[in-house]
Parts: sequence; C-alpha cells; structure tokens
Amino acid sequence: MNDKCILLNPGPVVLSERVRRALFKPDLCHREPEFAELQGRIRDNLLRVYGLEADEWAAVLLTGSGTSAMEAMVTSLTPDNGRLLVIENGVYGERLARIAAVHGIHHESLHHEWGAPIDLGRLEALLAADRFDRVAVVHHETTTGRLNDLAPVARLCREHGARLLVDGVSSFGAEAIDFEGWGLSGLAATANKCLHGVPGVSFVLARRQELESPPAPRTLYLDLSAYYRQQESGGTPFTQSVQCFYALDEALAELFDEGGRPARQRRYLELAGRVREGLEALGIEPLLPAGDSSCVLTAYRLPEGIGYPALHDHLKAHGFVIYAGQGGLEKTLFRISTMGAIDKADIERLLQAFSALSSPGAP
Ligand SMILES: Cc1ncc(COP(=O)(O)O)c(C=O)c1O
Repeated sequence: MNDKCILLNPGPVVLSERVRRALFKPDLCHREPEFAELQGRIRDNLLRVYGLEADEWAAVLLTGSGTSAMEAMVTSLTPDNGRLLVIENGVYGERLARIAAVHGIHHESLHHEWGAPIDLGRLEALLAADRFDRVAVVHHETTTGRLNDLAPVARLCREHGARLLVDGVSSFGAEAIDFEGWGLSGLAATANKCLHGVPGVSFVLARRQELESPPAPRTLYLDLSAYYRQQESGGTPFTQSVQCFYALDEALAELFDEGGRPARQRRYLELAGRVREGLEALGIEPLLPAGDSSCVLTAYRLPEGIGYPALHDHLKAHGFVIYAGQGGLEKTLFRISTMGAIDKADIERLLQAFSALSSPGAP
C-alpha cells in the first residue's frame, strides 16, 4: 500500500498540501476580528464561485456536515404554512423528504426509482393539481451519480409559482448551476466535496430577501436567518469550526488559482473519462451513460463473480478507497469519484490495480 491513500469516495477528499497546511494556522477565537475577516472572505468567495451578485445573494456558513445545510435550507426557506414538493430519485432526495417530515412541514414526494430521470410529466401534473411554494431537489444524486437536469424542472416550477431548494452538496464548485435562471430560493452545499476543503463546514446560498423575511424558526441551531443576521456584522451565533474555516478559505483560493469552477469541471471530466474508458476496456460497465452522469462520480456495475468487499479490499491494498452502493445497491454497484487532489498518474495506477484483479497472482 502506498503511503498516500487515494480517496475515491465522494468526500472527504484527498487534500492538497496547501489546504492541509492551512489547518495549522494560529489558534483563533471566533469572537475576534480576525475570525470576522476570515468568515467574511469565505462568504464573499462562495458567491464568487458562481459570480453571484452580493446585493441579491448571501452565503450562510454552518459548522456541520452537508446534511445540516440541507436541514437548515428546508426549515428556514420554506414559508410559514408553506407547501413543499420533494423530488426523490435516490437517498438524498428521500433525506430531504425526511427532513420535512421531522419538522412537520407539509410536503408531498414525487418518488422515482433510484437512478431514474425526473419524470417531467408527473412533476407538471402535481404542480398543476396543487399549490406548492417550494420544490426541493438534489442536483447531483450521489446514490447513482445521476446529474438531475434542473433546467426543465426550474421552468415548470416558475410556471407554477414554486421556487427551488437545491441540494448541491455534491455538485457545488464543479457542475454548472444557474442560480438566477433556475429561480433558486436556496442551495445547500459543503466544504469537503468539490471545493476540496475538510469536513466540518457546510453552507447555504440564499436570496437575501428570503433570509430577511424568514418563517418563524422551526429549529434553534439551524435557523439560517439567525446565522445570517450575525454573520452580516462579522459575528456568529455559536462557536464555529475555526480550523475547518481556515481550510475552506485556502481551498477557495486554490480553486480560483486553478481557474475556478469551469476548470474544476474540466479536470473532473478528464479524470472520470479516463476511468470510464479504462474500466470499460476491462468489461466493467457504468450504470449510466456519460451524458446522464455528473462529472463528480460514476457508478459502475460490479464485475461478474466479485463482491464489493473483495473489490474494495483488493483496491485498498493498492492504495485506493472506492465506495459501495447505498441501500440494496451495494450488491450490484460500486462508485468512483474523481474529486480531490488526485491526478492522471493516480488514475493510471488505479486502472493497473483493476487489471491485476483478473491477472494471475492478484492479491
Ligand atoms: C447529494 C448529497 N446530499 C447530501 C449529502 C450528505 O452530506 P453529509 O454526509 O456531509 O451530511 C451527501 C453526502 O454524500 C450528498 O452526496
């Protein structure tokens, strides 16, 4: 096994040395002006990733994993007595519905089999039959790697007066997101996926107007408006994960130095394309055509006669961590993400490790 273990799971990712070093910056109290400056810079730079107007949009930073941002978004951006339609085609869409249920938010689900594309006809029928204030949907549904096509979903929502709440946890920073064109109300995301930071910080990008006229708080800790009000003046309602903020700050600087979001997408596409080509040559089939998959992660069918644990352990012995399918899918699928500080040489070594699976003498 190599000393550097290459993480091909969908976050946390392999850190660059630059981001790792940022974790060792001096100790800092979250009530000091230096923290206010750090927090303010991260909030500005998160808007910059997608060129968002600062007078229209605001980033709200939370200490917690991606699910905390999903929960903050759903509870803080669904109006009082609002009705929510949740689109489900994987684990994370179902999680959005679960969040609504836990908080007693009136909701309905448009359920699909995991991996299926969003059925626009059924969506239109539901939107026409009932009034929904918000539609919650996952952009990149990591369960299967499907990149949900949000442009037509957004068009239907606009026609029927609903605004979108998007789980962009595994797409923000790499995939194209049309915040204005899609009429987003808010988007939840995290530091430790396409932004290449460490786990511990997540955030919601939301319209200022909505943060300034919020519903009655449905939760104490995840009340986005409370964070927003304090972050606007450099404060924070609760202790933030200072070291994770340092790492996100550095990761954002690195993203811009490397050419920003479009360059990151190109890099992922190149690495993911090489994995797909190499595995197909070995007879390992992707679940979805390239055009339906995100640039971030691809799900593959397990090769004939090999269970996930054996494949995982073989690759780990060669220095690579892959990811199982979720739910019942671990029996048929495995997943490979190409986020993080990895390069073409890592991918070539990964493909050699796959080749060794079928070679005599393989471990
Ligand atoms: C699309 C999506 N949403 C939400 C989450 C949950 O994030 P976390 O595990 O950081 O809470 C994930 C995690 O992989 C994800 O891929």
